[in-house]
Amino acid sequence: MSGMQTPAEHGAPADGRAFRRALGQFATGVTVIGTVHEGRGYAMAANSFSAVSLEPPLVLWSIRKESKSAPAFTSSGHFSINVLEEAQTAVSNALGRSHEDPLSQVDWSAGVHGDPLLSGCLAQFECTTESVVDGGDHHILVGRVERFARFEGKPLLFAQGEYGWLGRRSDTGSSQLAAAPSEEMLFMSLLRDAEQHMSTLFDSYRRQLGLTPTATRILNHLAHSSDTVEGLQRSTPIAPQAIDDSLAELMQAGLVNRAATGTWSLTEQGLARRASLRKGAEEFTARQLDNIPANDLAAAERVLAALCGR
Ligand SMILES: Cc1cc2nc3c(=O)[nH]c(=O)nc-3n(C[C@H](O)[C@H](O)[C@H](O)COP(=O)(O)O)c2cc1C
Repeated sequence: MSGMQTPAEHGAPADGRAFRRALGQFATGVTVIGTVHEGRGYAMAANSFSAVSLEPPLVLWSIRKESKSAPAFTSSGHFSINVLEEAQTAVSNALGRSHEDPLSQVDWSAGVHGDPLLSGCLAQFECTTESVVDGGDHHILVGRVERFARFEGKPLLFAQGEYGWLGRRSDTGSSQLAAAPSEEMLFMSLLRDAEQHMSTLFDSYRRQLGLTPTATRILNHLAHSSDTVEGLQRSTPIAPQAIDDSLAELMQAGLVNRAATGTWSLTEQGLARRASLRKGAEEFTARQLDNIPANDLAAAERVLAALCGR
């Protein structure tokens, strides 16, 4: 065993944001769960979904007791679970916040119990409610799956308050490629390895500056143009709650300001922090490229630009 790691944050869960950030280290997919109750449709983004049992076929998820749709979900007796596909971040954002008529925002058709089945998903499970269990400030809903459908595609991922996409799967790493190298595969794997290596190095560098990747993304975006929360949602991979949390923290630190119109912008201090971040990033990149001859670098830049179609 190596020495003890120093945690980035620790303590009692009473510090809500830090506790949520620790929980957010567990990566999940994203689902939209829907139901129909007394003639009205409900749907919300949820990442608390989990498989429970194969025989009988049970799944679970949990809903905040304060959610406006909680009474509908705990009373309707049935719900549908839609597993989102990698291109569906906008669906998750749209159904991840309160909305008068959430289903008006998406394409869907009705399942056996009338519950919404969304277009473009990776999997759908139609359930009857097996039990509703008390779970603190959440209700845990256990569903019995009656029907399912699976579609081809890749899942939308969710971790650390941000959406993500499947990159390199663990079984296609370079060790496997080393066993069966082909020129083409080697090149693709080099590209991926270089990107991963650089971003891992940069992540640890950025952590030393005391900024999370999410906070950095927000600073970068607002440095370009002031924007609303909705604009940030559209232009970054950050989920709604994490945008709220991060903006609150950046405001506490005096780095961002909110105008009466709801538009967020950087303060003088925020602009200065962003400028030093940028300078740091440039110095960091220069250090990484220090030992590479200028000719090689120029050739690599041409190849990469050509691969990006530029
Ligand atoms: C990625 C993601 C995952 C979420 N997971 C859950 C969840 O598991 N349970 C929950 O109650 N809310 C979850 N939410 C928040 C709800 O979607 C949100 O509170 C709901 O849409 C608000 O609806 P309401 O009007 O019923 O309160 C999640 C939101 C996002 C963006």
